[in-house]
Amino acid sequence: MDNLYKVFHMQLGISNIFTPQILICTRIRVKKLIIDKKTLNINIMVDVFKVFEEVVTNRRSIRVYDQEFFYDSEIVKKSLELALLSPNSSNMQLWEFYRIRTKEAKEKVAYFCMDQSAAKTASELVVFVARPDKYKKSIQFNLDTIESPENFEKENSKSRRRLYYKKVMNLFYSYDFLFLFSLLKKMLVFFIGLKRPIVREVTVVNKKVTIHKSVALAAQTFMLAVKAQGYDTCPMEGFDSKRMKRYLKLPAKAEINMIISVGKGLPEGIFYIRKRFPYQEVVFEK
Ligand SMILES: Cc1cc2nc3c(=O)[nH]c(=O)nc-3n(C[C@H](O)[C@H](O)[C@H](O)COP(=O)(O)O)c2cc1C
Repeated sequence: MDNLYKVFHMQLGISNIFTPQILICTRIRVKKLIIDKKTLNINIMVDVFKVFEEVVTNRRSIRVYDQEFFYDSEIVKKSLELALLSPNSSNMQLWEFYRIRTKEAKEKVAYFCMDQSAAKTASELVVFVARPDKYKKSIQFNLDTIESPENFEKENSKSRRRLYYKKVMNLFYSYDFLFLFSLLKKMLVFFIGLKRPIVREVTVVNKKVTIHKSVALAAQTFMLAVKAQGYDTCPMEGFDSKRMKRYLKLPAKAEINMIISVGKGLPEGIFYIRKRFPYQEVVFEK
């Protein structure tokens, strides 16, 4: 299939998401560059897939950042805005993001990350949090969206989705005393499953996995967005979650998915060569 080409429009001197600095840092192949001398507009034609490929292949987990490099914290805001667009289970968005920016906060969080250099040298850290306890707010958010005037959905789809959020989501996310409800749901699913296909992951543990999957997808969008803007990241799960939660004043039911450090990576920040299992070993076809 032909690669998709896109024309990016820029005005000379006015910075845009695709600033020349970013074009250089991601080594985008510029297909065509047209400058309109009258308006000083530049049209740059780039191969969108190549840009994406550059971003994905150049992202590495960076463990030492350049603390002298000018750090533009706006890139984190922009990256988090894009992370919010990540796919997530039933659009429940049971996530929160805590930006760690001040010197004292960064020192504290680096300490909770057991003084890993990826945390200690970071310009900023973002804590990705799963919030199963906020499911009622999310259900209401989705019900409101169904009723909103700009919703173009057909009436039968609306009523199906109303039922889905009111019944299924409430059942799936509701509090489970001593796993008893999970057991009941598991049994119900077993019997229904004898007759037809059904989602089997209905327990309290499955609920956590569901939410963490979505938070991790947001984390990946975030890391790629940071890389696309010329900065680097390191995802971390090596931290003291209890201390971290207490510091962020999070309730017991909240869970930290991962902490991502951000900064301008130094060459010595890449600790290992990147090796992956070959395609044939992990990709299967039927
Ligand atoms: C969920 C998760 C947790 C991770 N935790 C840490 C960590 O605590 N410290 C660290 O230095 N790297 C951590 N990493 C980074 C991985 O080691 C790294 O992604 C992997 O070795 C592949 O290297 P690459 O990211 O450069 O391609 C983590 C990555 C993921 C996805």
